[in-house]
Amino acid sequence: MKKIAIYPGTFDPITNGHLNIIKRSSNLFDELIIAVTNESKKKSFFSINERIEMISQVTKEISNIKVDEFSGLLMNYAKLKNANAVVRGLRVLSDFEYEFKMAMMNNSLNKRIDTVFLMPNIKYVHISSSLIKEVSSLGGDISKYVPQFVQDKINIKKNE
Ligand code: COA
Repeated sequence: MKKIAIYPGTFDPITNGHLNIIKRSSNLFDELIIAVTNESKKKSFFSINERIEMISQVTKEISNIKVDEFSGLLMNYAKLKNANAVVRGLRVLSDFEYEFKMAMMNNSLNKRIDTVFLMPNIKYVHISSSLIKEVSSLGGDISKYVPQFVQDKINIKKNE
């Protein structure tokens, strides 16, 4: 049976931390679906189409990846896609409580789908999309933390 995993998130925008998780999990599964939520509680900086475009661009070398958008319950979407697993990154201890509760709830909704946690490379454990946007808006250097394509998109958006 084909092993399919979903990597869900808001990806506003995708960072090198996300990419690190994507590259490593794409080696663990036959197919990895990067599922971008269009219903985030957070007000998004980039539109859903812009976020999908950036992810598609920076993952285009990885053959077993699909990029999609989803809404509603993650477990319903995962079932629809015949996924066996959900991938989440665990950066710092403060991620744990939120991720633990989410994994438990998802497991109670669908026992057939496991959550798999990967820790990003140490270079990226302290970053988040909001922090990248904040540093960039204040003129700081974010080149270590996002691909050039994403950096260019942030710069264009800032000047709109
Ligand atoms: N590197 C860098 N940053 C990372 C990262 C990594 N490896 N992993 C996570 N982050 C950052 C994200 O950039 C984001 O930063 P921000 O808050 O500054 O934007 C933050 O960590 C949160 O991560 P994200 O992956 O976007 O998760 P989320 O908490 O926004 O999204 C969903 C969580 C979409 C998966 C969840 O809300 C969901 O499943 N929604 C569907 C509805 C549902 O099923 N609800 C019931 C769930 S039990």
